[in-house]
Amino acid sequence: MKNTVSTLMQQKQSGDKITMLTAYDYTTAKIIDECGVNAILIGDSLGMVMLGYENTLPVTMEDMIHHTAAVSRAAENAFVVADMPFLSYQISVQEAVANAGRLIKEGGAHAVKLEGGAEVCEQIRAIVNASIPVVAHLGLTPQSVNVFGGFKVQGKSLDKAKKLISDALLIQEAGACAVVLEGIPAKLAEIITKKLMIPTIGIGAGSGCDGQVLVYQDMLGLTTGHTPKFVKRFAEVGELMRKGITDYISETKSGEFPAQEHTYAIDEDVISQIIKECE
Ligand code: KIV
Repeated sequence: MKNTVSTLMQQKQSGDKITMLTAYDYTTAKIIDECGVNAILIGDSLGMVMLGYENTLPVTMEDMIHHTAAVSRAAENAFVVADMPFLSYQISVQEAVANAGRLIKEGGAHAVKLEGGAEVCEQIRAIVNASIPVVAHLGLTPQSVNVFGGFKVQGKSLDKAKKLISDALLIQEAGACAVVLEGIPAKLAEIITKKLMIPTIGIGAGSGCDGQVLVYQDMLGLTTGHTPKFVKRFAEVGELMRKGITDYISETKSGEFPAQEHTYAIDEDVISQIIKECE
């Protein structure tokens, strides 16, 4: 079944939880799509997990289009959402619409995602008016890492919680089709979810959201170092890769690989003739 803005909305109404995972390349996106995930996000987290940057800020439109196009070629049923990178929508409404359009036209995405509340409502309205669905993103918005002074849980004080609720209502009114709630207390996410008509997709926002999103490298155990509290490692793929790669090294060095079954045969007469001619 093809996932669309309407099917995601129906899932909210029926209480069927929405599943979203990130992907950044064709091979991974194909596996994720075949497993039946509702939506794939080409997150600007690719700056960290694919390109090795410290945060999402250096990611460019060209990076996003390149990876979005690869994922779009793989996704047959998932709803494909592409992140708008830092400064691709903040400078002007016109630039926001033009850049959102590139992610759809050149990247093949079905929707774009951008971070912020009241301050980006004008952009959301204009992008939606250009017939491009917009997913909003509130809470611990990674593009504001320098304002937050690190990756810290947001919305814990009364003022900040009220601001998040107000922002959620404003982005809905501006036309967003869904909102990612990142790094906020579970009870606050539950209140926002109940207040909104559009689906909420949580990451570090508890089980009261209409759906969940995770970075696939985190949930498959491919990342090393600190694992955030909200991440569940559903598999240890990194360990499997390490074993496969070290086995390859030792079997290649010992000559065990390639074996007979990995090689191509040639007619004995041809070989004898070649040997004769080479002597
Ligand atoms: O960039 C990203 O991967 C995201 C998710 C963490 C929601 O925005």
